[in-house]
Amino acid sequence: MTANSKPLAVRSWDEWSPLKSIIVGTAANSCFPFEHERMISSTTTAAHAAQFKKDNPFPQYILKAADKELDKFAKVLRDRGIEVFRPNTVDWRAVGGYTGSMVRDGLLVVGSTIIESAYSWRSREKEVDLMLKDTLFKLAEDPRITIVRAPKPPARETLYDGYPEANKVNPLNGVRWAINNSRIAFDAADFMRFGNVVVGQYSHVTNDKGIDYVRSHLPKGVLLELLDVDDPHCMHLDAVLLPLRKGLLIYNPDRTNKEALSNIKLFDNWDCKPFPFVPKARSDPPSYMTSNWLVLNLLVLDPHTIMVDEYDPEFAEFLRKECGMEVIGIPFRHVNCLGGSLHCATLDLVRDS
Ligand code: ARG
Repeated sequence: MTANSKPLAVRSWDEWSPLKSIIVGTAANSCFPFEHERMISSTTTAAHAAQFKKDNPFPQYILKAADKELDKFAKVLRDRGIEVFRPNTVDWRAVGGYTGSMVRDGLLVVGSTIIESAYSWRSREKEVDLMLKDTLFKLAEDPRITIVRAPKPPARETLYDGYPEANKVNPLNGVRWAINNSRIAFDAADFMRFGNVVVGQYSHVTNDKGIDYVRSHLPKGVLLELLDVDDPHCMHLDAVLLPLRKGLLIYNPDRTNKEALSNIKLFDNWDCKPFPFVPKARSDPPSYMTSNWLVLNLLVLDPHTIMVDEYDPEFAEFLRKECGMEVIGIPFRHVNCLGGSLHCATLDLVRDS
């Protein structure tokens, strides 16, 4: 086979087409991220804010259980014939880093273009390099794959200078963003793929320059649409929207609504359903930096199959009965402690569409 007849190892245009290849994160050695006080108060749970300090690993029992959950997740995917890559194990404490479990946050895959996050969190700067140098970067040696590396971070952080004058507020709730617009900053997880449209949001980690940068690096013909999201702790779009297939979406009614969604032309002919229950509490094991809305943070395997956290049988039943999905439940509560659920902990590389 010549290089050009080999199937592309990275090609994924949306969140629902049949999944063929994916990266599943690892939890080992994860530490509480150490960031500017304003970032911590904007994006973490007040009761746990004191934990976000230097050299503070997550409790061992959580990391052990989280890795068990992630290994099981990887096995279920492999048993279905999906290719699964795992990140390198990294000593996050030694490098002043955070985690290898939230792979979604660091890379936006649109078709065969991979855009690396320009992280606001300095603790995450080296994350992608350290955990993916032996997997993704090898796959991306194919000249048909475009990898857009993050702009070099400034020597001195300026994102917090001049507060509050230079910082914009979220128009929906008046909450001032934690960061200003002095350099490019965005997290890939503030964007979701819908074919030739990518939907994105401003957040405490994504600013104007970040949005413009992502827009300018999307493959030709892909449009970026923005959604205003009403969340005082706004960070990452995948606990706001859950697309199940083309034309069908579940949304978080605390953070958006039909009217806001109808501003995005893409959704004109979509059935957009609000999450139908009050999401269950997620406080034991502790939610250090996420809300109960992780219930929406799920991985679609194909337009009629979804993997869910078995903690939410009520929602699983809804997905079966009202949305025509086959539902596969796995335990995932300890991964949640690290900052996300099934969508955050993965990065799909190939979906057939
Ligand atoms: N900020 C969201 C919430 O607490 C969680 C989003 C996590 N997503 C991620 N890609 N890490 O509701």
